[in-house]
Amino acid sequence: MQNRRVAILLSGRGSNFVAIHDAIRRGDLRAEICCVVSNVAEARGLQVAKERGLVSLCLPSKGIERAEYDRRLVESLRPYDPALVCLAGFMRILTPGFLQVYGGRTLNIHPALLPSFPGLHAQRQALVHGVKVSGCTVHFVDEGVDTGPIIMQRAVAVHDGDTEETLSARILEQEHDLYWRSIALVLDRLNKGQGGLNEKRARAT
Ligand code: GRF
Repeated sequence: MQNRRVAILLSGRGSNFVAIHDAIRRGDLRAEICCVVSNVAEARGLQVAKERGLVSLCLPSKGIERAEYDRRLVESLRPYDPALVCLAGFMRILTPGFLQVYGGRTLNIHPALLPSFPGLHAQRQALVHGVKVSGCTVHFVDEGVDTGPIIMQRAVAVHDGDTEETLSARILEQEHDLYWRSIALVLDRLNKGQGGLNEKRARAT
């Protein structure tokens, strides 16, 4: 029996979550979204999850100590038994306690070609540096900020006259295609008992 359940964590707009759900609906991605969790009650993504009839949980993070929050997060996810946890604009750094349970099966998407431009405002950083190519990265989450092993990347050309908005929009379009393909790859590997892709990097370093 394969486990192809995916939990989504988000804090805002949720367009990556919607793209993943759309890929499932089209039949491109063989997976099931078992729950959508937000640390922000007003997150648009949480509202959309409700409208789409998905399990949507609000777990506010304000004023809660980091390790304690992650303990609550692990407890909230437990009943849904996700094979993967996908961060989709989840504006928090996960603690070792969370990664003890979900390490090697927690994914994030970042709007730059990592290891360039980690952290906030990646598209702005790319423009400030004057790079001619940026893009997006899906990677495993570790304890750092956007530092975990890379799963897939997609390059996006930076045009003369690009603003943060125009570049972000072109990158986002690629994010929406890249994330579900990365999820498919990792779910297939996990279900074949091949583990995460972490081992590859361990060999290379
Ligand atoms: C995306 O640009 C993603 O790469 C970054 O946060 C943004 C989330 O957008 N991690 P959305 O909420 O999925 O629309």
